[in-house]
Amino acid sequence: MKARILVIDDEAEIRRSVRMILEYEGYDVQEASSGPEGLALIEREPPDLVFMDIRMPGLDGLEALQKIRQINEALPVVIISGHGTVATAVEATKLGAFDFIEKPLASERVLVTIRNALDSTRLQDENRTLKRAVEARYQMVGESPGLRQIWDSIKRAAPTNATVLLLGESGVGKELVARSIYRNSLRSRERFVQVNCAAIPEELIESELFGHEKGSFTGATEKQVGKFEQADHGTIFLDEVGDMSAKTQAKVLRVLQEGEVERIGSARTIKVDVRVIAATNKDLEAEIEKGNFREDLYFRLSVIPIKVPPLRERREDIPALVRHFADLFGRDNNRRPQRFTAAALEFMQKARWKGNVRELRNTVERLLIMTPGDVIDVDDLRDVVRADSRPAAAPEGATAAPNHLSPNTLREFKESAERKFLVEKLRENAWNISKTAEVIGTPRSNLYKKLEQYAITQESDG
Ligand SMILES: Nc1ncnc2c1ncn2[C@@H]1O[C@H](COP(=O)(O)OP(=O)(O)OP(=O)(O)O)[C@@H](O)[C@H]1O
Ligand SMILES: [Mg+2]
Repeated sequence: MKARILVIDDEAEIRRSVRMILEYEGYDVQEASSGPEGLALIEREPPDLVFMDIRMPGLDGLEALQKIRQINEALPVVIISGHGTVATAVEATKLGAFDFIEKPLASERVLVTIRNALDSTRLQDENRTLKRAVEARYQMVGESPGLRQIWDSIKRAAPTNATVLLLGESGVGKELVARSIYRNSLRSRERFVQVNCAAIPEELIESELFGHEKGSFTGATEKQVGKFEQADHGTIFLDEVGDMSAKTQAKVLRVLQEGEVERIGSARTIKVDVRVIAATNKDLEAEIEKGNFREDLYFRLSVIPIKVPPLRERREDIPALVRHFADLFGRDNNRRPQRFTAAALEFMQKARWKGNVRELRNTVERLLIMTPGDVIDVDDLRDVVRADSRPAAAPEGATAAPNHLSPNTLREFKESAERKFLVEKLRENAWNISKTAEVIGTPRSNLYKKLEQYAITQESDG
């Protein structure tokens, strides 16, 4: 697409020569003969770049520049400076002009400067889009009192260096809370290193966390820098901290107490300055009782404990979360946004969500895939919202059949889609089995088999 450039200059001759240079290069050029005229054009139809004289009668370039900044902060402005106005032009760059060019205008210089200015804004745009995408991904949605309390804790804990322990059921958003603390902390420009203590095999976790020297054990063919060292000056997120072995617990305790690590196979201790955020879905006090978790480590970790409440205790957040996930999904897949009806949202608000926000998110994505239309209504939910997650008193006879479970695997997904398809076709054919079998092109015997397999009956359809 052609970039549009607005030339503001009181001298018609300058405007004409600039227009010639720019149009020859394929730019779209607009002209204004005064500051106010230029500002009006910018407000009406923002150009991609402004090329402006610094000395004009009435509103001069500097004032016009400040006004442009108020209208559009990101619009690049290149200043034309005449003999004796270079100092003012320099001033203009301090006020946010991209660059200035001295008269007489050399076409090469004009073109290079404009190209640079356009490139830099394009880059800025891309950065902004990227940053916004990352922010949307880690955005914490919800206004419930439960969540607002979490926000208060985040704001209080973030700027300190205190260790935070995040507690709560699986899928409630502990990782999001950890990232929010990090982003709002004084260490937000340093690294955020995440370790999932449950996912790393026991024999590797120490070397993951603390590193090892080359040849320190069989298989250690290269030296490895541990996560604590990687996180130096930054933040380490110890996820599923309740799943660490006794031996690892002892070592982690030592880092917290002494602020130093030792690589496996090395006698040298290394000082590290790391802020620790830990999370677990286990009841650590019960684990202490059972002798599975060290009490001293628990005290060290839970300087600031934050308990993230399960979704069922903050159902007010569900509609906003559903919309948020639908938006994210639509953006990721370049799809038109689909809308949930009020009835559908209400149905979802009453469901149990044992898997908390994660389950809600997966369900929304599945619904978006499985529903062909633009609108998702209660009917579309019946086969998708997990049977054990449905409201106890399901509306309009939505009964839980054993095969409605939410799909986690491709096979479950196929089955779930197949079931939905069959129910729809049966409805269309007034539950006439022979007719339906014919329409969908399968032997009657096969359809009967499927009905049995998926526990589909006319009654179960409400
Ligand atoms: N308030 C929220 N707003 C938007 N998304 C959320 C919110 N809470 C959780 N999520 C999303 O739900 C999913 C689960 O969240 P997260 O991974 O943080 O849970 P968790 O508590 O760490 O679970 P686990 O204990 O299983 O690791 C993620 O995709 C996360 O982005
Ligand atoms: Mg997690």
